[in-house]
Amino acid sequence: MPSVKHNDMPPTTLMRRISFSRYPSPPPPSVSGPPLRLRLRPLQLTLRRFNSSSATPTTISLLGRTYPTDGWTNITPSITAHLSQNLHLQPSHPISITRSLIESRFPSPTYTHHNHLSPIVTTAQNFDSLGFPSDHPGRARSDTYYINAGHVLRTHTSAHQLDLFKANHAPGFLVSADVYRRDAIDRSHYPVFHQMEGARGWDLAKTSVAEINDETEYLASLTASLQVEDLHPPFHEQTNPLQPQHSSEAAAAVAAHLKRSLESVVLALFTSAPNPDADADADSPSSSSSSSSSSTPAPPLKVRWVEAYFPFTSPSWELEVFWRGSWLELLGCGIVQHPILTAANLPSSHISWAFGVGLERIAMVLFGIPDIRLFWSTDDRFTAQFIQGEVTRFIEFSKFPGTLRDIAFWLPGGVEDGEDTGGANSGAGGPAVHENDIMEIIRNVGGDLVEDVLLKDQFTHPKTKRASRCYRVHYRSLERTLTSEEVNAKHAELEKALKEALGVEIR
Ligand code: PHE
Repeated sequence: MPSVKHNDMPPTTLMRRISFSRYPSPPPPSVSGPPLRLRLRPLQLTLRRFNSSSATPTTISLLGRTYPTDGWTNITPSITAHLSQNLHLQPSHPISITRSLIESRFPSPTYTHHNHLSPIVTTAQNFDSLGFPSDHPGRARSDTYYINAGHVLRTHTSAHQLDLFKANHAPGFLVSADVYRRDAIDRSHYPVFHQMEGARGWDLAKTSVAEINDETEYLASLTASLQVEDLHPPFHEQTNPLQPQHSSEAAAAVAAHLKRSLESVVLALFTSAPNPDADADADSPSSSSSSSSSSTPAPPLKVRWVEAYFPFTSPSWELEVFWRGSWLELLGCGIVQHPILTAANLPSSHISWAFGVGLERIAMVLFGIPDIRLFWSTDDRFTAQFIQGEVTRFIEFSKFPGTLRDIAFWLPGGVEDGEDTGGANSGAGGPAVHENDIMEIIRNVGGDLVEDVLLKDQFTHPKTKRASRCYRVHYRSLERTLTSEEVNAKHAELEKALKEALGVEIR
């Protein structure tokens, strides 16, 4: 049975898994206060050094276009190698099978499907058009891959919202695409992943609320077997406000249509998955025969709605599903901020919902895939397992042993900022290093041989005030056994790269 547990890692309370920063995390704009992370200035210093050692050219050609580089450039060859691989379009790939299942719930002509939009977008598309404040942490170079100051690899499919609302091809649209974020290294995070965006709008001058409600009623009839927990009112003045342009009646109707649409997606997805508990029952000593496990009716699928925050929707929610004993966050959604629709030249009577969902997380659960790197495997023991249109249980072909190596170093500069905000250090005496910069170098050197990286310990020297970090790097190939010579050579290369790029001193 595949497992997502790190059971081959030694348990230690010192270790901290590097956290995953997500878009909903910043406080809503009504909460005033300093931006979460102040790290743009120190990072620019870091990058210049990183660039000079790796000789960044003055221009970069990507997907047939040439871009000038500048002080914002931080994309690396290991990332650009993923451009145009299009896992979401390879018919028998689990990412594509998951995409098709979701697409089938949003048929044309009501929804147009967009699966070939370029991953290179402007900062205006990715952030400004969606109302991201200028100090939003998502804009930081520590979190986003910049080609230059004006162009990024899209960090989410919402980057296409404004353009698709403008094009106004149909009442709704769906986008599926690769998205890019600088992040931690572990079995469920990879700097490239896939998302689907959906939106559906109505011109209330032409469609009545009653017509929206009729459609919602039909959607609800499809999901009668689902157990839904929705404890919050459709909007809340402080925590999840109704927009001033919307009547409560219209917003409630659109919210209900959104929620029933997504519930039908979840039901379609999770009832298509082979029941993983069937094998667990068969293995367990209490099950006397295989027929007893198959005759036990499956418990109803449970989902719950929780309030959320996104700069481009209000009210906003996340949908979670109860799967194998815990609540799993699946997607974010909400009623589109009216100024986005106005900017798209839609009439002021227009109202729309939107959602965004990550495909890897769902595919890992549905297919039982234990490591996110497997999606990129070209080993036919992986690729040949899957069949277009079918959700099948992943058969682990082999588990090659992993090996651990620690790397301990002094960060450049002096005083630590004291707060663990993800910035590894800052202050007087030298450039700061963001944890994601360290991760990026580990990825560049180790590639897919690095399964995960844990912060093993950190401290500040009481006299010199220098900050020390020790990371534990877990090397493991999904396809073969690594030799210790090979791992030692990689690790030595990593030490050298960290020294050269970030100016750390290896201890
Ligand atoms: N873009 C958001 C994310 O990546 C998800 C989202 C899409 C939320 C559309 C609301 C509406 O987290």
